[in-house]
Amino acid sequence: MNRKRVAILISGRGSNMAALIAAAKASDYPAEIIGVISNTPSAAGLETARAEGLATAVIRLKDHSDKTAADAAISARLREWQVDLVCLAGFMRLLGPEFCTAWQGRVLNIHPALLPEFPGLDTHARALAAGVAEHGCTVHFVTAGMDEGPIVGQARVPVLAGDTPETLAARVLAEEHRLYADCLAKVARGEIAWTGQ
Ligand code: GAR
Repeated sequence: MNRKRVAILISGRGSNMAALIAAAKASDYPAEIIGVISNTPSAAGLETARAEGLATAVIRLKDHSDKTAADAAISARLREWQVDLVCLAGFMRLLGPEFCTAWQGRVLNIHPALLPEFPGLDTHARALAAGVAEHGCTVHFVTAGMDEGPIVGQARVPVLAGDTPETLAARVLAEEHRLYADCLAKVARGEIAWTGQ
């Protein structure tokens, strides 16, 4: 099997990253995780990645003249690793239009809401405040817009009486881990593709 080479971009805990690493350990999974890039050295997920024996890199905005230059440094590392696909997993910095055009159709993001509902931050608190009966998560191809781009897959959970942002987040996160591995597999196999605007 020709497994796609995948890099994961993180900013923090890295539980979605860990779920993708675990899924890719199956011999019939169509992707292998090559390396992990963080935009902050304190991301806990970096330790997990190192413990898994993966290549890691920290590429900070403040070490570059501007966002375009930081994005170019990420691109250079992805090319060095000969990456086919990129998974944003709690990567909390918006990638610019040059990066998104260069990698169009090859970058996925996971977002903790049923897009187009609740893009941005604090999705669980906002879903509770809106009184929705269902909430969930979305995997989508990345564009320069925040939490935009064609949807690859979604998973739904019920909102239960007495839910807090924390209980709802935990229910959604369990689905995120399943959904991301499933969507990456579909894209890696070529079952779902996005080739143009
Ligand atoms: C996840 O819930 C992910 O969906 C969210 O950040 C969390 C990262 O957790 N991403 C976004 O909000 C992107 N807009 P993790 O580091 O444990 O995977």
